[in-house]
Amino acid sequence: MIPPAVIDKIFDVAPIEEVVGEYVSLKRAGANYKGLCPFHDDKNASMSVSPTKGIYKCFSCGKGGNIFQFIMEHEGLSYPLAIKHLADRYNIEIEEGQIDVNELKEEARVKEGVYACLEFARKHFYERLNESQDGKVIYKPYLTERGINQQTIDKFSIGLSGTQKNHLLQEGIKNGYTVQQLYDAGLVKKINDDGGIVEGNLRDTFIERIVFPIFNVSGRVLGFGGRIIKKDTKAPKYLNSPETVVYEKRKELYGLSVSKNDIRVKDEVYLVEGYMDVVSLNQSGVENVVAASGTAFTEEQARLLKRFTHNITMLFDGDTAGVNASLKHVKTLLGADLNVKVALFPEDEDPDSFIQKRGTSEFENYVAQKSQNFIQLITEVKMGESKNDPIKKAETARNIAENIAALPDPLKRAAFINETASLLEIPERILVDEVNKFKLDNRKQKEREQRRESRMAEQQGPPAPDGPPAGFDYVPDYTDFKTPEALLANKKNHQEEDLLKSLILYADREFDEEQNVAQFIFNELEEDEIWPVSEEFAAIFKEAYSYWQEHKVLNELYFIRNASTCKLAAEVLSRRHSLSKGWEENFEKIVKTDEDNYKHEVVQNLNYLKLNHIEMLMKENQEKLQVAETEEDIMICQNVHANLQEFRKKITDQIGTVIL
Ligand code: GTP
Ligand code: MN
Repeated sequence: MIPPAVIDKIFDVAPIEEVVGEYVSLKRAGANYKGLCPFHDDKNASMSVSPTKGIYKCFSCGKGGNIFQFIMEHEGLSYPLAIKHLADRYNIEIEEGQIDVNELKEEARVKEGVYACLEFARKHFYERLNESQDGKVIYKPYLTERGINQQTIDKFSIGLSGTQKNHLLQEGIKNGYTVQQLYDAGLVKKINDDGGIVEGNLRDTFIERIVFPIFNVSGRVLGFGGRIIKKDTKAPKYLNSPETVVYEKRKELYGLSVSKNDIRVKDEVYLVEGYMDVVSLNQSGVENVVAASGTAFTEEQARLLKRFTHNITMLFDGDTAGVNASLKHVKTLLGADLNVKVALFPEDEDPDSFIQKRGTSEFENYVAQKSQNFIQLITEVKMGESKNDPIKKAETARNIAENIAALPDPLKRAAFINETASLLEIPERILVDEVNKFKLDNRKQKEREQRRESRMAEQQGPPAPDGPPAGFDYVPDYTDFKTPEALLANKKNHQEEDLLKSLILYADREFDEEQNVAQFIFNELEEDEIWPVSEEFAAIFKEAYSYWQEHKVLNELYFIRNASTCKLAAEVLSRRHSLSKGWEENFEKIVKTDEDNYKHEVVQNLNYLKLNHIEMLMKENQEKLQVAETEEDIMICQNVHANLQEFRKKITDQIGTVIL
């Protein structure tokens, strides 16, 4: 158990805009902040963050909550681990043993084991590079010779793997990690594929390599890239960790954890090909740089970058491989609505070697001068010197059209079509046709994918809510329904949740001269013994009640900070305070009604809860009546029935009057 004082302290020192701002580029919008929601493919800055409330809320996908909820969702962590995550970040001490791994779900437990292994390996490799004989005599001098200094080694936590086949395996076991964990972390692999995951059948993944830890955006180690330095070997120059439960390659970018702030400040990022490019540019003061480490650039990576900037410049080798790689990436980047430029480096030169040889300012000049958009790039690459070869021209135009078709923004498409037409001296109309052909192909492709996805979604249950909230579902409008069954049916069993919403929204407002809303609600619940039936809501109400009894205050802050209510609090509070502009416009009337009618709303929601209880009691009574054997029992049941009926009528009348 983590003491509530620790949690409160984190709330006090970790502002929501800072916590969310670590992952999402936020812009001020009145009293709040707005940014692209990281939980779905967002194009409209649907995520709102309220510094005063301490909540975030996406108006498109519906995700919302407090700082811990955000970390849980974003990092895939359990509640206790999200607390630990933020405690670490803000240097708040949590004593050993206050987080119980047994509280975690199985999957989270496996992941934590893997993360722990990877962190252990990182530390071990780092120490080996800096302290072992091999490190001092062979490997560090290699790095020094390549111009990498100690500060950079520390910044990227560069290390040295073991030099024997099972060095890390042994060290890991000695330090209490299981062979299964080491295997799951991708740090060891099977010698014999058919053999089991047992010590005798495993060996280190990285042997005699300089290792670059790969961190996720928030700085956790996910895996390694290892470079061999021996020349006379058939082994690949670079070896990367395999995909694991924590390392999904298509979602990560090397260097982002250290570069994200600089990227945001400069509002631009350089995409390079290799680990060494990232490291070397950083050392020379060019810190807004990431690498896709050898793999194809994915939509997920584009989305990740987009949280920090929309402007990306690819710095690739001018050799055929580099050009082909950059052309392959361009379409993905354009499709993600990023502004893409490409600067090709002279053959036999990469950003690392260039900046080492010529220095930072010459590097920056070169990049500025060589940067071209994809149209210029494709034209240069495809046409080369032959300016008027009609076949090459057609091929080039088609290639460009394919990329233009990927652009989501029609204005940009038009501008690029125009530019291409004048560059290649071909009629715009022909290009438009060509672009449309590709767009049609893309759409068909997308539809196929969507059909496949929706088939899968059907098997997995209902999708997340879409679009802005449909209005206040707790402002009842049931004018046409008069029977208790109909009233309740329309409530769809939401009466308990709705009452909680009222409590969150209005707890500390005046109800009458003697009491505030919280007091009124609790009194009613106690008096009529109508505490919620569902265990979940009963627990929430009871906890709030005892908090209120103890502190004599209860307000929205309590519900925002409470783990079991923060999601709902984010939902209702962001609605009332109109975090979203669009929402404010669309639902202005309802907001007004809400402000005027909160007392009615509270009474109504209590009435619905009462009605629900009465219905239950009547049903129970009915069942009793059916099995009643003596005259007396039957009499009693009939009396109870009559009383309940009367009570029910009172309530339905009240609901009716208030509505009408
Ligand atoms: P140095 O040669 O040390 O300067 O590294 P580099 O980053 O310049 O390497 P290079 O340009 O040859 O390759 C660019 C990137 O491609 C590397 O950082 C790796 O991520 C990847 N890569 C290169 N060689 C290999 C290989 O043999 N296997 C794999 N899997 N990836 C490689
Ligand atoms: Mn290189």
